[in-house]
Amino acid sequence: MRSEFRSRLLEAANHFGTPLYAYDWVVIQSQLERIRVAFGDAKIFYAMKANPNLGILKRLNALDVGFEAVSGGEFERALLSGARADQIVLNGPGKLDLDYVRAGEVGANIILDAVDEFARVARFAPGSQVLIRVNPGLQVSTHDHLATGNASSKFGVRLEDVPNAVRLAEKSGLKVIGLHMHIGSSIEDPHDYADALERMAELAKIIGAREVFDMGGGFGLEFDLVPLAKLAREAAASFGAKELWLEPGRWLVAQAGVLLTQVLGRKQTERNFAVVDAGMSELIRPMLYGAVHGVESLDGTGNLETLDIAGPACESGDILARDVRLPEPKVGDLLAVLNAGAYAGSMASNYLTRSRPAEVMLENNQFVQLRRRDTLQEMLRAELEPLD
Ligand SMILES: Cc1ncc(COP(=O)(O)O)c(C=O)c1O
Repeated sequence: MRSEFRSRLLEAANHFGTPLYAYDWVVIQSQLERIRVAFGDAKIFYAMKANPNLGILKRLNALDVGFEAVSGGEFERALLSGARADQIVLNGPGKLDLDYVRAGEVGANIILDAVDEFARVARFAPGSQVLIRVNPGLQVSTHDHLATGNASSKFGVRLEDVPNAVRLAEKSGLKVIGLHMHIGSSIEDPHDYADALERMAELAKIIGAREVFDMGGGFGLEFDLVPLAKLAREAAASFGAKELWLEPGRWLVAQAGVLLTQVLGRKQTERNFAVVDAGMSELIRPMLYGAVHGVESLDGTGNLETLDIAGPACESGDILARDVRLPEPKVGDLLAVLNAGAYAGSMASNYLTRSRPAEVMLENNQFVQLRRRDTLQEMLRAELEPLD
């Protein structure tokens, strides 16, 4: 966390209330710059599932970033943020007829996730530019729920089926501009990419030159992108691809965000807890993936203590962090849960009829509100309005 950002968080919490997602635009820009320095002229399609806030999308698009969308709703967000057709890829294993129709009308790129998907694309978005998502069939170094390139996952076309997928798509009038892979999210070992890229490169001999090679996202936050970029360029070159495409999500936004939460109480069972006003409905990653998020106290004083940070939900799994060391938290103290710029707000829910928090961004030294907190009326409207 940058010190300029950290020093403004108490003010943000006082002004906007907690729980609150606070983002630092400087960090998003510098992460983008790091990708661009490492990957040169690769085209970036930000995987907006990481954080689809329109304020972030508009700012990224103004910096010439495109988007990976995996639902009709995300597709519309891409358009609302100003993206051109060539700046959008529509992806995902279960697209709806209407999603193809919209992508076809706009002229966006579509990723085929299964051998027989060509038939629906040819029907609802005839003549589209498509890429085939390849499943390289590897064990990768991440949580099982985040691994997408292993042989048993539901994603992509098996290596041996790719030539047939290309042939069928082309026969139906689609333009197969390239291949796509995404081996998983929060990948810990960069060698996983080397293995996957090696398997992909084998396909080059069989399917021939293609314009585009899309290597997806999933980069671990600690990665040195320079050697990875070199491998990716080599893989792209083996396909004769003029363009390398990337789909970073978490890399761009995770470290730019914190979830601000206030201590509601302290308690002791066999473990030592601080109960806070944010939990699984605002940050589900610890519960869903066993993800570890650091926690810092913003105004705590006193001796360091080891404790668990528990959310307010009536669920035993609603624990944001275990065994954190903090200056003895007291009721009203403000905590920052780190790396909450990705898959926090985007996965937030109204579980327990809790309002999804506001989102704010520090930009030019000022906090701008990118989303306001849900109101009770908004949450209840769809049930209170006359129903058919
Ligand atoms: C196809 C695809 N591309 C890119 C991403 C982005 O991954 P990450 O946020 O880990 O970079 C995802 C995330 O699951 C994905 O499914």
